[in-house]
Amino acid sequence: MNFTLQHQAVNSQARAGKLETGHGTIETPIFMPVGTAGSVKGIHVKDLKEDIQAQIILGNTYHLYLRPGTEIIEEAGGLHKFNGWSGPILTDSGGYQVFSLGDIRKLTEEGAKFQSHIDGSRHLFTPESVVDVQRKIGADIIMAFDECTPGDAGYDYAKKSLALTQRWLERCVNQMEKTKPLYGHGQSLFPIVQGAVYPDLREAAAKHATSIPSDGYAIGGLSVGESEADMYAMIEVVNPILPKDKPRYLMGVGTPINILEAIDRGVDMFDCVMPTRNGRNGMLFTKNGIINIRNKKWAADFSPVDQDGTSFVDHNYSKAFLRHLIISNEMLGAQIASQHNLAFYLWLVKEARRQILTDNFKAWKEELVQQLGKRL
Ligand code: GUN
Repeated sequence: MNFTLQHQAVNSQARAGKLETGHGTIETPIFMPVGTAGSVKGIHVKDLKEDIQAQIILGNTYHLYLRPGTEIIEEAGGLHKFNGWSGPILTDSGGYQVFSLGDIRKLTEEGAKFQSHIDGSRHLFTPESVVDVQRKIGADIIMAFDECTPGDAGYDYAKKSLALTQRWLERCVNQMEKTKPLYGHGQSLFPIVQGAVYPDLREAAAKHATSIPSDGYAIGGLSVGESEADMYAMIEVVNPILPKDKPRYLMGVGTPINILEAIDRGVDMFDCVMPTRNGRNGMLFTKNGIINIRNKKWAADFSPVDQDGTSFVDHNYSKAFLRHLIISNEMLGAQIASQHNLAFYLWLVKEARRQILTDNFKAWKEELVQQLGKRL
């Protein structure tokens, strides 16, 4: 895997780059649609590729390991063969999903014991086992096993949690060295920087991660209950320590404004369930602000879903029809809204990249963030 930094903005930390993987080149900044169970909910791979113009998607080790199970994916020849997506895939390690299980998980030095949310069966994830599972899934980018420290963690807890994540990272690195890709394409491990909202812990975490030569680095444990100001402050602590010539991935973030603010602070890669999950609920992101399509005011609005939108759904359907579908719980409504939102997120990062390359990012961003938060 090779990253080329193509342009560094002058009055911002924003960057434009190219990340070459065994399944194609990703132009950064990039947003990765989330395909938890191997599919981006409601979206055909043809639309992902041609209409939304996704360049990489994300899968979840936790979900794929439980269902359909690692053996089935291996028998299929890896997730790319199984789901028909031929572009790059990043898999999250399960650290975050296990953390979300609350009472039905227990962390020890060895790993995380948890109960399946599907049938209550008991399992153990270790740094070694999650590397093995991600090898078998065939992810182009493998995430290290970490504890996603809660946003409200006290200093002592955050410090202990970070130390555990660091020991687990070293075990992941060893396991990567001991094992090989199964399907002929390269696989890279990205360390995850934790440290909650404590600048000294974040700094130590970034230095430790950087001491391990990697093809990219992630920032985790953000957008998990801390304030936005804290989130931005932590990105500002971590990014100057991470190597300039490697991509930086902010995990699980966020709103369009969060993404622009993070790009401004030097982040290159993003994922979030927001465009699909909120879309299914009737929330549409646009350049001019947020639309709650369930609102009665759209009932007889026959204008296109988004006249500035890049997706065919934006022009083929009206707001009134989409409102009717969402209110009637028709599955096409969830599909249209998800497709619109993903196309918007991909437009946002593509346009950010264009503005970076033409040295106009900061001014463009300042103007757009004024619009994005409005309620239409
Ligand atoms: N997704 C969002 N945040 C995190 C995190 O801190 N760790 C992992 N593994 N995944 C995440």
